[in-house]
Amino acid sequence: MAKTKTEWICSECGDRFPRSLGRCTSCGTWGSLVEQVLASPAAKSPQAQLSSRTRKKRLQATGQPLAAITLPQIEQSQLARIPSGYGEFDRVLGGGIVPGSLVLIGGDPGVGKSTLLLQSASYLSQNGRVLYVCAEESGQQIKLRASRLNIDGSKLYILPETDLDAILLELETLQPQVAIVDSIQAIFWAELSSAPGSVSQVRECTSALMRIAKQRNIALAIVGHVTKDGAIAGPKVLEHLVDTVLYFEGDRFQTHRLLRSVKNRFGATQEVGVFDMASGGLQEVTNPSELFISGRDEIAPGTATIVACEGTRPLVVEVQALVSPTSYSSPRRTTTGIETSRFLQILAVLEKRVGIPLSKLDAYIASAGGINVAEPAADLGVAVAIAASFRDRIVDPYTVLMGEVGLGGQVRPISQLEQRLKEASKLGFRHAIIPKGQVLQTHGLRVTQVSRVLEALVAALPGVDEGDD
Ligand code: TYD
Ligand code: MG
Repeated sequence: MAKTKTEWICSECGDRFPRSLGRCTSCGTWGSLVEQVLASPAAKSPQAQLSSRTRKKRLQATGQPLAAITLPQIEQSQLARIPSGYGEFDRVLGGGIVPGSLVLIGGDPGVGKSTLLLQSASYLSQNGRVLYVCAEESGQQIKLRASRLNIDGSKLYILPETDLDAILLELETLQPQVAIVDSIQAIFWAELSSAPGSVSQVRECTSALMRIAKQRNIALAIVGHVTKDGAIAGPKVLEHLVDTVLYFEGDRFQTHRLLRSVKNRFGATQEVGVFDMASGGLQEVTNPSELFISGRDEIAPGTATIVACEGTRPLVVEVQALVSPTSYSSPRRTTTGIETSRFLQILAVLEKRVGIPLSKLDAYIASAGGINVAEPAADLGVAVAIAASFRDRIVDPYTVLMGEVGLGGQVRPISQLEQRLKEASKLGFRHAIIPKGQVLQTHGLRVTQVSRVLEALVAALPGVDEGDD
């Protein structure tokens, strides 16, 4: 019997090694090598396989010894996209589902991946054949969820199966337009001895599914689990294999969910779709800014409104700051939704450049709904919120702020300013405080241009003047 050959593959960079190493010599990660059993130990190298038979076969098929063609010779086919049933889902995909494409959807357990896909599958099944492979749940469980979601699903094919071969056979036989595999970590290929969810299983199963998807022009959505750090579990190569990688994010204490594209061969990345998890399933939120701002007459001191951009989409978000005397030797700094390092930097700028004594005060900052605002354009709003809380003042509720704050206290330009102004105007804001020298069109807003943080404080907080500190 032929001896089974094994190799070691790095789960970070995908490089292969003939033996086990404590550290990957390519990317330097410790403990990332995973053993993989080679499926066919007798496989020849690709070069050894290049025989006269291959040449003959090509000549017969194309009449040409050369298979490569020049770019103009390739016919351009219009990608007819399939609507998913959710405008928000389509937006993240770049305009709908591309036939024959492979989409990987990752997210924490319980965030709503299965719910989203079941609801979408039910819509899709009205216009074409759809197969939903539930590898993690029984048919009964899917039925329960479907009845909770009020899904009839009379045209939706459900396959509770974990064996890859059986899934491939079903795909061959049914030839669906769209197929969903929930999840890739639960299915296995019997030829490999490793357990489902292991690096080699996930990789081989995805490759096999991808081959059939491309051959049969089946649009395939694969659910992937995420690790503790929030990345999709399994080899990094998984993300290279697929056409599109989406993350479904949400806080367990909040009902809104964000679907974000991090890789997309058919559309923009960092695009977001917003959903709301209700008792009857996921509903799309077409005007998400309304989620992240409260009523304009309930504004408390220390609140400022910013316009953050998620992908190409502007979102109006409220940030709230609270500063209060500390009872600890080193004051507390807590953030929710705002990057801690940026918050600390802004506190230091306010202390040093504006003269607000914050070093003996606890400081807290939170974005409404806990939405993650990672971009520098939020800096100015955060700075004004902190100053407003320090002085116990209310920022005009119809004012929005945007601008990056530099270490010298200067306000720097930001990207996509016009879209942000447009969104603020659409939501009824009247005044915008923005970086100097940037505005093109004001969209009906009164605009104040500032070059330093202090100027923004003067413009946003009544009773503060330039000499104030
Ligand atoms: P699920 O789709 O099973 O999550 P995932 O597949 O990402 O693990 O979603 C499960 C959660 O969603 C569960 O905590 C209950 C909640 N939920 C609702 O709030 N409303 C609903 O209509 C459904 C079906 C689920
Ligand atoms: Mg699930």
